Amino acid sequence: MNKIIVSAALVPFVFALIFASAAFAIHEIIPSESVIPEPGPNAEQINAYIVKYKPYTAWNLWPGKEKLYKGSQPHGELLTTFVNTPAFFSINDKKGMADGSMIAKEGYSADKKFLGLFVMYKIKGYNPQAGDWFYARYAPDGKVLAGGRVEACMQCHEKQKDNDYLFTGPVK
Ligand code: HEC
Repeated sequence: MNKIIVSAALVPFVFALIFASAAFAIHEIIPSESVIPEPGPNAEQINAYIVKYKPYTAWNLWPGKEKLYKGSQPHGELLTTFVNTPAFFSINDKKGMADGSMIAKEGYSADKKFLGLFVMYKIKGYNPQAGDWFYARYAPDGKVLAGGRVEACMQCHEKQKDNDYLFTGPVK
């Protein structure tokens, strides 16, 4: 009789143990956010992050834009623009872009040949005179073609200073 009571009392502990090991196992398989730090101002690190850890192709599209929409130069005849979670909420909230916002724009030729990837990434304190944007450009194979406070990118995007340096749609 006593034995039965003791084993019954153990049931919750056994469940707790099973749950804890399952949670631990899942944690091992899917590393939490804290395990993958957001990249710093480094074009290679950013590329690894948006290709391997948080594949940009799984992000939301810029709200209201389809894949392969007709774009303007210099980014390609056809464009697909992906935004990460902070960027997505910022665009919807219309209060300017939050730190950590990332925008990844694929450029294509008129016949849908992939020409390269353009990235803007807002890093607090990186470049306060120009909206704290880190600019990066990648070849179709992922090779870094430009990264950082890229003069050419900054000069043109400066025209959109009142819209947090962005062209695709209003963010304020
Ligand atoms: C001559 C002007 C010009 C230059 C230079 C330029 N851009 Fe852009 N950029 C644009 C325009 C215009 C758009 C919007 C394209 C569209 O929607 O048709 C854009 C859009 C973008 C976007 C999507 C976010 C947004 O602003 O709407 C990113 C990311 C981007 N550019 C990155 C870059 C990077 C990185 C460089 C430098 C390697 C660069 N751009 C250089 C004009 C420019």
